[in-house]
Formats: sequence, structure tokens, C-alpha cells
Amino acid sequence: MSDVRDTMNRPLRDLRISVTDRCNFRCVYCMPKAIYGRGYQFLERSALLTFEELTRLARAFASLGVRKIRLTGGEPLLRRDLPVLVRMLAEIPDLDLTLTTNGSLLVSLAKPLREAGLKRITVSLDSLDEATFRKTNDVDFPVSSVLAGIAAADAAGLRPIKVNMVVRRGLNEDSVVPMAAHFRGTGKILRFIEYMDVGHTNGWRLDDVVSEREILARIGKEWPIEPVDADYPGEVAERWRYKDGAGEIGVISSVTQPFCSACTRARLSAEGSLYTCLFASAGTDLRALVRSGASEEALRAAIEGVWSARTDRYSELRTSETKDRQRVEMSYIGG
Ligand code: GTP
Ligand code: 5AD
Ligand code: SF4
Ligand code: SF4
Repeated sequence: MSDVRDTMNRPLRDLRISVTDRCNFRCVYCMPKAIYGRGYQFLERSALLTFEELTRLARAFASLGVRKIRLTGGEPLLRRDLPVLVRMLAEIPDLDLTLTTNGSLLVSLAKPLREAGLKRITVSLDSLDEATFRKTNDVDFPVSSVLAGIAAADAAGLRPIKVNMVVRRGLNEDSVVPMAAHFRGTGKILRFIEYMDVGHTNGWRLDDVVSEREILARIGKEWPIEPVDADYPGEVAERWRYKDGAGEIGVISSVTQPFCSACTRARLSAEGSLYTCLFASAGTDLRALVRSGASEEALRAAIEGVWSARTDRYSELRTSETKDRQRVEMSYIGG
């Protein structure tokens, strides 16, 4: 295995693979209906990397130092036969294989995914309040179905389970404490995410961000908490634990406390473009190469070339100047 470094000496450790740009939710901060309604052009099926192509690329990434692969979307569980892909990726040695999902299809898919070799899972849930959650997902999806999906993941042994909650001012900030109350003491790790300016379609404004400081103040008022060391170098979430032993929470504060200097993540879009930052404006096409039957060595060389030239640190530079830059959409790149 070789160890490739970018221009800031950051190794390549994580690969986020988007397996589809489609989703059955229309979260207002990600796929607003006004844009992703009827007539929106999603990727054609023939544009998507096949499972064989994905696996060949994943092996090349692993040989360059990738130790974690996370499947994302859109909604990854919408990709037909996803457990088949999981089984193929699970054969790559020494890999933390996981997935981020909205939970809507977990009741039927948790067990097949676990049996295929998926190890753990992260489920997004923005509120336990029915009206708030329906307003957020904008497709009238009920809280109870996501909770049933989380329970199915637990029963299937997909652990630890993490729950992601994006906090947006005026939308679900009042759900912070109830969500913490619900997941305390369950062994599930609730993570609060500062609302980010990914893409352009969500109409992001700094005023809509609820900061880590405010989130922790809300929690700390109810239950004393203390910081915990990161689980691994470059972990995105800051960890905190309840002093009374009821478990831990995380906060992902990419807006108020950027973590670019430790960023080891690459992203592969469903059509096979490699992005070196969540906020990148362009990617490098790897599909043509993999479709041409290139050897693993050739794939590795292409990835190495992109990574070694990488200079990204968008969150550290975020200013009024970056506001108008072209950026990929969250549903396309998978977060
Ligand atoms: P773990 O492997 O469990 O630590 O998961 P993770 O936090 O890396 O992945 P997850 O898909 O749960 O992402 C949580 C949030 O962090 C999402 O909103 C992502 O968009 C965001 N995120 C993940 N990686 C990055 C990153 O490199 N930069 C920024 N700005 N945000 C990121
Ligand atoms: N800011 C922060 N997090 C977001 N997510 C989607 N859009 C945004 C945004 N604008 C979250 C999803 C999911 C994770 C991959 O990213 O809710 O949990
Ligand atoms: Fe779908 Fe996730 Fe985006 Fe919501 S945040 S629209 S569930 S991809
Ligand atoms: Fe990495 Fe880009 Fe996020 Fe910074 S903004 S942590 S470089 S993905």
C-alpha cells in the first residue's frame, strides 16, 4: 500500500461514494421542491457507475490508503440491489464500511445490508416532532417510520448507530433538547450538524446557522457534559459525553470551527467524478478511465495525481468572496 499526500501533507483515508443522486425526501435544506420538483434532470441509469466499476475504483482507493468507505446519495438505499454492492466492497480488507441514510427503507434493508457485510450505519433525523419533521422532509414522511428503521438497524446488529440532525434556525432548533432526551442512554450517538452552505439551491444564509456553542449551551443547561477525545485523527464530529454516564453526543461545526487542516476525505459522485472537497466546483472524471478497462495501476495513478495536487480548504476560507463560487449540490455529492 502506498500513502499519498496532498499539498498540505494530508493523507487520503476516507472515501464517500454517492451511489445515486435521487432521494425520496425533499429536505428543505438539501433538495428544495422548487428546484427538485417535476422536470428536474437526474442522472440517467447508464451514467451511473456499475457495481463492478465502483468496486474496482474502491480497491484502487484502498491501495492508496483509504480505510473507510461510506456509501451516500441522494438516498443510497434507493439504489437497486445495494446489498450486492456492499458484499463486493466488504471483501476489501481492513475497511470500515458504512452508510449514511434517511432511514426510510431500513425496515426491509437493515438485515440484508448487515448480512452483506455492512458494519455500522448513520441515520439522519431532524426532529421527533411530527409537524417539524414533515416540514423538514417536505414529503409528509412520519417520524415513526424512521424510528422503526433505526430499531431495525439495531436489531440487525449495525452498531454503533449514529443519528445526524442538521439544525437550522427557525426550522428545528427547538428539537435539539427533545432529540437529546430521546437518544440519551440508548447507546445511539446523536450528532448535531451546523447547517452548511453546500450547493446553491438551499438559499443558505449565515443567520440560519445554529452554532455549536449555542447547541452545547442548550444541552448543557439540561445535562452537564464534558469533552471526549476524537475517536480517530480527522474525525469530523467533536465528541461530548454526559457526566451522568448516559452516553455521548457529537457536534459537526464546519461553519464556526472548520476542520480542513485534518481533512482526509475524497468523494466520488454516482457518475464517477472524483471531488477533493465538499465545496468543490468541479471534479475529475474517472468513469471514462474505468470503462476503458484501465488497470488498477492506471486507476491508482489517476487518483494519486488528483490527490497530490489537492489544495482545498474551503471551510477555512469561507467569506463573502466564496459566496458566489460554483459549488456542487449535496444530493449529488452525498455530504
Ligand atoms: P463518522 O465516520 O461516523 O465519523 O461519520 P462522518 O461524520 O464522517 O459522516 P456523515 O455522513 O455522518 O457526515 C456528517 C456530516 O458531516 C454531514 O453533514 C457531512 O456533510 C459533514 N461532513 C463530512 N465530511 C465533511 C467534510 O470533509 N467537510 C465538511 N465541511 N463537512 C463534512
Ligand atoms: N448542511 C449540513 N448538513 C447537511 N446534510 C444535508 N444537507 C446539509 C447541509 N446543507 C446532512 C444530511 C445527512 C448528511 C450526510 O448531511 O442530513 O445527515
Ligand atoms: Fe435526501 Fe438526505 Fe438530502 Fe434529505 S438531506 S433530501 S434525505 S439526500
Ligand atoms: Fe475537507 Fe473541503 Fe470540508 Fe475543508 S471544506 S473539511 S477541505 S471537504
